[in-house]
Amino acid sequence: MAAAPRTLFVTSALPYASGDIHFGHLLEHIQTDIWVRFQRLQGHRVLYCCADDSHGTPMMLTAERLGEAPETLVERYRRSHAEDLAAFYVDHDIYYTTHSEENRQCAELIFERCRDAGLIFTREVSQYFDPEKGMFLADRFLKGTCPRCDADDQYGDNCEKCGATYEATELKAPRSTLSEATPELRSSEHYFFDLGKQQAFLEQWTQSGTLQPEVANKIQEWLAAGLKPWDISRDAPYFGFKIPGSDNKYFYVWLDAPIGYMAALKKLEAEGRSDGVCFDAIWSASSAAEVHHFIGKDIVNFHTLFWPAMLEGAGFRTPTRIHTHGFLTVDGTKMSKSRGTFINASTYRAHLDPEYLRYYFAAKLGPNTDDIDLSLDDFVARVNADLVGKVVNIASRCAGFLHKQHGGQLGTRIDDEALWAEAQAALDPIAAAYDSGEYGKAIRAIMALADRANQYIDAQKPWVLAKDPEQGEAVQAICTLGLNLFRVLVITLKPVLPKMAEAAEAFLGGASLRWADAEQWFGGQAIEPFKPLKTRLERSAVDAMVEASKESAPPAPPPAAPEAGETIDIAQFQALDLRAAKVLNAETVEGADKLLRLTLDVGPLGQRTVLSGIRSAYGPEELKGRFVVLLANLAPRKMRFGVSEGMVLAAGPGGEDLFLLSVDRGVTPGMEIA
Ligand code: 2FM
Ligand code: ZN
Repeated sequence: MAAAPRTLFVTSALPYASGDIHFGHLLEHIQTDIWVRFQRLQGHRVLYCCADDSHGTPMMLTAERLGEAPETLVERYRRSHAEDLAAFYVDHDIYYTTHSEENRQCAELIFERCRDAGLIFTREVSQYFDPEKGMFLADRFLKGTCPRCDADDQYGDNCEKCGATYEATELKAPRSTLSEATPELRSSEHYFFDLGKQQAFLEQWTQSGTLQPEVANKIQEWLAAGLKPWDISRDAPYFGFKIPGSDNKYFYVWLDAPIGYMAALKKLEAEGRSDGVCFDAIWSASSAAEVHHFIGKDIVNFHTLFWPAMLEGAGFRTPTRIHTHGFLTVDGTKMSKSRGTFINASTYRAHLDPEYLRYYFAAKLGPNTDDIDLSLDDFVARVNADLVGKVVNIASRCAGFLHKQHGGQLGTRIDDEALWAEAQAALDPIAAAYDSGEYGKAIRAIMALADRANQYIDAQKPWVLAKDPEQGEAVQAICTLGLNLFRVLVITLKPVLPKMAEAAEAFLGGASLRWADAEQWFGGQAIEPFKPLKTRLERSAVDAMVEASKESAPPAPPPAAPEAGETIDIAQFQALDLRAAKVLNAETVEGADKLLRLTLDVGPLGQRTVLSGIRSAYGPEELKGRFVVLLANLAPRKMRFGVSEGMVLAAGPGGEDLFLLSVDRGVTPGMEIA
């Protein structure tokens, strides 16, 4: 499949700079990386850029909670994300951040050009404001009673109980989840991108082959319903870029996030690492290069409406193609922290080979937006059957005879021309499948070829021939064809298994293989001694990873409490580890007016930090030195203000009438209470 070299700019969606890289991110980055590596093997010039999506309120609040500057926090996450992704052989040319000078400049430029083109307007917006935190509240920071079904504790935009969606202003008894304060409605000027003005352009662009058919159809529905103006500003305090010409307005995180794709290229170019490709060669309106974005289906609107509308409005080129994938499930259900199937990259790589996951994802990925299931049993079975049982097995079977009888020298004769022709004929369909995102189809074709190679070796029985000194040349010819087929498998799997390919290349004489090398017969040279390229995947290692994922996750909700009047048995009572604990320190918790943070001495159990809702009744000073009753074996609970390691017991209805149970001074810290 010899095509003229193309220049491709490729991206994966930018992970938020809070939280760790998990399987969901890995699916997308591995999908992109396989495509990138395939295109590079074909001889195309590819710049694969990514970054952390660093702005927004959650980043600001997390930094505040940790007492860090947001810049410090996002840089820490950026490094850890880049490290995790690199460990899965995701070969970005750059892993940058949206909180960069390059991004600021690009965002301002796009904003100003769109404003000058009449695409931006301002309008007053009435929104809830938290008087204690001094900030406007996004819907997810509001809770209250559902206006439809009266369920308590529902978020500002939808009710989990009855499924209704509504405006935050409709919520009954609203409260801020940041401070528990009652929010006030205040008015503020916001900037809007007038998407409706880009309707004609978007109708044409979204139906011009840039999107998968099902995505194009979905967008068609949205376009038919008409596009509303998009609110692109947020009020201070906000972690982001200030809007030029405003005092205290910031770009909404989703405005500068995709612009981060451009900024990453700017940085790459400034560092002289863009392979001679300049920013304009990719982004000018007349660019002949291609731009490919890989995304999940949850962010289709941002990439197929807002982003092209901004680019077109600012006089830049628009993307060549948006490659959208479905969601990932594990063992048929949503990833779950309690089941240990919400798996972080760092946990996986502490237990298992990253290439196994790359292989499994490749085997499951198709060109459409269907969800992808990672079945843990199937994962183990496939890796062992395909990689270890089929592919690596060919090399280990053939290499031994060549080394024992022929000094590691390959023959020159093609023992079975028809089989070699079959392998050659498979190359173009495999390449076409990779190119169109049908990785599962490519893997099936590669494994069919591996089956053919194994059948050939089984039929020729070199181990029988090897006993006959007359058959030396025949054995060499069989093993030479076997290894040539293995080499084709290595090259075609190289986008998926780059590390294994590297080891196989060393075994096959050292040259770094390109796709076109698969068309060349490889004979007459010497090979290196064979070392196992992959070992069996044990289910016990997968189980250990799942267990470790459970440990790092917050515990599942506790079982329902017994009804009033219901009894518990002695064993249930004995399961409670009640201890005397001495209050070493007590302090207020910023942003939580009901909580005190207690540092407790629990003797042999060490020190514990407990977040306790007793601030309405106690001041920090009066608690220091007191002995309280601690439920010590309550599973740690991750709260917004930190982890609470146990619970101190109190009586009373609440408010000022809350009385801590305490024990006499005669007890020592950690003494059991029964
Ligand atoms: O959904 C997300 O995780 C976003 N951080 C993706 C941003 S992609 C791009 F637009 F920056
Ligand atoms: Zn409801």
